[in-house]
Amino acid sequence: MKSGIEIIENPIFKIIGEASDFLGLESYVVGGFVRDSLLARECKDIDIVCLGSGIGLAEEVAKRFNLSEQSVSIFKNFGTAMLKVDDWDLEFVGARKESYQRDSRKPLVLEGSLEDDQNRRDFTINALAVSVNNDTWGTLLDPFGGIDDLQAKIIRTPLEPGITFSDDPLRMMRAVRFATQLGFDIFPETFEALTTEKDRLSIISMERISEELNKIILSDRPSYGFLLLDACQILPIIFPEFMKLKGVDTEEGKGHKDNFYHTLQVLDNISKNTNDLWWRWAAILHDIAKPQTKKFVQQKGWTFHGHEEIGARQVPTIFKRFKLPLNEKMKLVQKLVRLHLRPIALSKEEITDSALRRLLFEAGDELEALMTLCRADITSKNGDKVKKYLRNFDTVEGKLREVEASDSLRSFQPVFSGEVIMDVFDMGPGKEVGLIKIAIREAILDGLIRNDFASGWDFMISEGLKLGLKPVKSLDQMIS
Ligand code: CTP
Repeated sequence: MKSGIEIIENPIFKIIGEASDFLGLESYVVGGFVRDSLLARECKDIDIVCLGSGIGLAEEVAKRFNLSEQSVSIFKNFGTAMLKVDDWDLEFVGARKESYQRDSRKPLVLEGSLEDDQNRRDFTINALAVSVNNDTWGTLLDPFGGIDDLQAKIIRTPLEPGITFSDDPLRMMRAVRFATQLGFDIFPETFEALTTEKDRLSIISMERISEELNKIILSDRPSYGFLLLDACQILPIIFPEFMKLKGVDTEEGKGHKDNFYHTLQVLDNISKNTNDLWWRWAAILHDIAKPQTKKFVQQKGWTFHGHEEIGARQVPTIFKRFKLPLNEKMKLVQKLVRLHLRPIALSKEEITDSALRRLLFEAGDELEALMTLCRADITSKNGDKVKKYLRNFDTVEGKLREVEASDSLRSFQPVFSGEVIMDVFDMGPGKEVGLIKIAIREAILDGLIRNDFASGWDFMISEGLKLGLKPVKSLDQMIS
């Protein structure tokens, strides 16, 4: 493990130390930076605690970096100041004793010693401090055995866990998040307190809870975080729909997959192939409507008819509750949930060009995400089965590529736009325009016509005539 001096080898700390000595303040780098540097993880945020005014220190440091006064962001109420030096984010704060009221997250902030400040931190591995003053340069202060916990890979609160968690209940999510990101265990007593204090999460805003959940989802093996949240009973509080996936029913000796564990496997699988948060959310939600669509059909077994469509419709409700963005990211997740069975279904039947074109058209720019999700969705205890499905899937992918290359359907913009149709039949917007457009799109997808004027002209005219419309322009007029 690195020594205290090695942790602060960045020349920035020399300047902070000099500024502190000049002001006669004891200063320390604390928290995430020390932890990450010991774990050899990248960290661009540096937290500095001093015994005195953090704002005053930030201003002195800014001067020494020749930065203007405006470059220091001051948060008077919190007694903190922030500063950017190159791509480093520096945060300065005076050492504090914080005392929280039981029904609110608003702390009463009092000046304190370094020890007070370390006491009020969330985990032993986050309570390490390294001195940056000249005469104590690089001294590492580790009052709670944080280094031992880093080595033993343990998340543990510095104080009795009930106190640490009730001071700031978000720390319960943070405990699971750090355990998942770092691959650590949670110390038994700390873990027990997650269960006993879990209801206090209700005073935490959903935005902050989702921020932690998203960090869990973005870790290398997100299933671990979900399993921890389940084991400490936090998962039902924040994500009841997900809990419903759990369990297996048996009828006539036939059981179905446990969709809770299956989904976690899909999430881990997709996480090996993408760091995109929304693709990972699609994995989490792809089977979310299985519980309410589950049916046992004699001779056939378990069915989950329509779960992809009902699931897609459930996405906005879940996003709203988690305060996730209700924008094109949500639409992407919906689309993936809606289409997630399609490529697999194709691999099981005779593949027609028309079915391939339809899939290309509907998936559009999301084709790669959809294929990645579908591959991740192939889970079975039987390795040969998985291999066989993946091989079939390769065939589907190959054919999709062929059709795409010949038809360029992914960026499918029909040349027969609404404007063109209105122009040809000399009419304003209305139902007929939509009907003709749909008929043309279907004909293109069925391979009856191609997406160009010459090939589709007669088809469009005949569709118009069927609706009692008369063309006023010829093909020559339109392409000239
Ligand atoms: N901290 C805390 N309780 C919280 C949040 C933060 O005690 N609810 C303390 C911890 O000592 C933490 C430090 O404040 O190390 C900085 O917090 P933050 O920047 O949120 O977390 P990091 O530990 O830096 O980790 P990350 O950047 O991954 O969130």
